Amino acid sequence: MSIEQLAETALAMVAPGKGIIAIDESTGTIQKRFDGVNIECTEENRRAYREMLLTTPNLSDHVSGAILFDETLRQSTKDGSPFAKVMMDSGVIPGIKVDKGTVPLAGFPGEVVTDGLDGLRDRLAEYYKLGARFAKWRAVINISEDAPSQAAIDANSHALARYAALCQEQGLVPMVEPEVLMDGDHDIDTCYDVTEATLLSLFNALREHNVMMEGCVLKASMVISGSTCPDQAPVEEVAGATLHCLRATVPATLAGIVFLSGGQSDEKATAHLNAINSMGEQPWPLTFSYGRAMQSAALKKWSEDMNANVGAAQEAVYARARANGLASLGEWEG
Ligand code: 13P
Repeated sequence: MSIEQLAETALAMVAPGKGIIAIDESTGTIQKRFDGVNIECTEENRRAYREMLLTTPNLSDHVSGAILFDETLRQSTKDGSPFAKVMMDSGVIPGIKVDKGTVPLAGFPGEVVTDGLDGLRDRLAEYYKLGARFAKWRAVINISEDAPSQAAIDANSHALARYAALCQEQGLVPMVEPEVLMDGDHDIDTCYDVTEATLLSLFNALREHNVMMEGCVLKASMVISGSTCPDQAPVEEVAGATLHCLRATVPATLAGIVFLSGGQSDEKATAHLNAINSMGEQPWPLTFSYGRAMQSAALKKWSEDMNANVGAAQEAVYARARANGLASLGEWEG
């Protein structure tokens, strides 16, 4: 894999009017989502659900790629076509979540660091053979009275940088995700300060580890009020603060920025993305990489009747993809 191919994949991931669907829930997380709609979390139900999502007709009109979980990359449609092949044939780039989740950071109660570097080189080589062309690693930054510490921020940045360098060595585009959690009653200014410190640390580490910006995508959280903050910042303020923070910290040579939805409602996630893309030219494309904000309507429909409602659930995914695709161009009208 050449440097040019990495850059080409990265640009395709953030192609105009398109974004990413995140369907990389670990077994524990998908269990929570299925519990919420009374679906039994069996391997076959997980497979059938992901088949419904990935075979949505014309998904690639607005979706450039999908992030899968390890289990899903090894699965096939009911008629036996590997998901990775179905995706490539329909113009959706296969991606893979490669971190192993968070563990407590020793010495820093309440803070976490992401595991998964041991053996990562070999796993990436296998994922490439299975068809993946980009990979995601999620770091989690908590906001509380005493957190985050600089030590937690830097430990997570270091892991993200090592993962990103390994991805590029193995021909996969790294999607680096430092998620500043919305949980808490902090205000938007606190979120700004934490996000700024996190991104400064991250891009320093990426540079130290010789990660090529043109072949790398940032998956960012928006600068937003804490979910239980009594004073919720309005859409325009979230968009303005998010852009200001990104412009202050992210190199212009980065291929692109995608956002997670992080527990925002479907509508809010789209409105924020649209406002961000209505504020003029930026150094990079800014689009979506939503999990919940792409899937929740479809999951609800599908859960009501897994067989009869496949078409209706796919219409719900397509509608969310279309809305977010328009928002990535600043052309969503609500
Ligand atoms: P949400 O959009 O549901 O936050 O999920 C995106 C994701 O991939 C988190 O790692």
